[in-house]
Amino acid sequence: MTLKEALRDALDEDELKKLIKSYDVVGDIIILKIHPELESKCEIIAEALRRIYPRVRTIVAVPLYTHTDELYRTRDLEVIWGDENLETTHKECGYIFKVDLKHVFFSPRLSYERMRVAKKVLPGETIINTFSGVGCFSIVIAKMQPQTRIYSIDVNPYAFEYMKENVTLNKVEGTVIPVLGDAREELEKLEGVADRVLMPLPEQAYSFLPLAVRALKLNKEGARGVIHYYDVSTGRKGDDLFNVPLERARANLSSAFGNSLRIEVEETRVVRSVAPRKYHVVLDLRVLRMR
Ligand SMILES: C[S@@+](CC[C@H](N)C(=O)[O-])C[C@H]1O[C@@H](n2cnc3c(N)ncnc32)[C@H](O)[C@@H]1O
Repeated sequence: MTLKEALRDALDEDELKKLIKSYDVVGDIIILKIHPELESKCEIIAEALRRIYPRVRTIVAVPLYTHTDELYRTRDLEVIWGDENLETTHKECGYIFKVDLKHVFFSPRLSYERMRVAKKVLPGETIINTFSGVGCFSIVIAKMQPQTRIYSIDVNPYAFEYMKENVTLNKVEGTVIPVLGDAREELEKLEGVADRVLMPLPEQAYSFLPLAVRALKLNKEGARGVIHYYDVSTGRKGDDLFNVPLERARANLSSAFGNSLRIEVEETRVVRSVAPRKYHVVLDLRVLRMR
């Protein structure tokens, strides 16, 4: 049963039109966006969700125009039904992610993206995950390709603690190396070590790009590495959403490195829509040292 079907007798036509039909299930918590004009109907909406998911423990509402913490990327959440405790354990394709949604970023909508990136990794690679959150990308990679070493950096102390716990829960100790710190400082310490760098912070990855390239093993002519570069793009359906992020990235890198690098695009993908005509996109960039 869909949420709209469950509410057909409880809301009128106008209210049903304002209902935001998609929601996330994270462990035993449901998170949904509520239109401001439906705030008085929260209880009815929660009751309908409980009929669809009888085992849910907590239902959380996110205001439609919610504030997102600029650094930690967490959102304002309001418990509309159930337990105030927002710690939960989420299972995704055999991986276990323990999170506290009050304190850390987590999105089940990135599950395909985690697998997509992990499938590209080759045995023996050294990887840096610059904005790792509770370690999801790193853990999926480590499970799929155990012959790797993944430095997994996050500045949020809560994310770091959950990442350490998730590394243990998923038995990838020694492969994933949790690091608490600012990616800017940590990337400097890791200069010249990586075959691949992940930058899953679309709003800010741009400003870290030269440091990410410096972290690649580009010590001699012909050497190459890969950057999974995330950015925000705007446009209509059918527009080329990758050209502007690519040109921005190329301009940033040519002002830092001149003509010494060649940037090739391995793959592009729209990761998700985040607002009308606004998308998170990823460009897998192959970086080659020319001279
Ligand atoms: C959008 S979340 C991505 C989390 C993770 N990749 C995932 O898939 O769940 C971005 C993460 O980057 C972290 N972050 C933001 N700025 C940072 C910085 N300067 N250095 C390190 N981590 C940072 C935030 O704390 C947050 O956990």
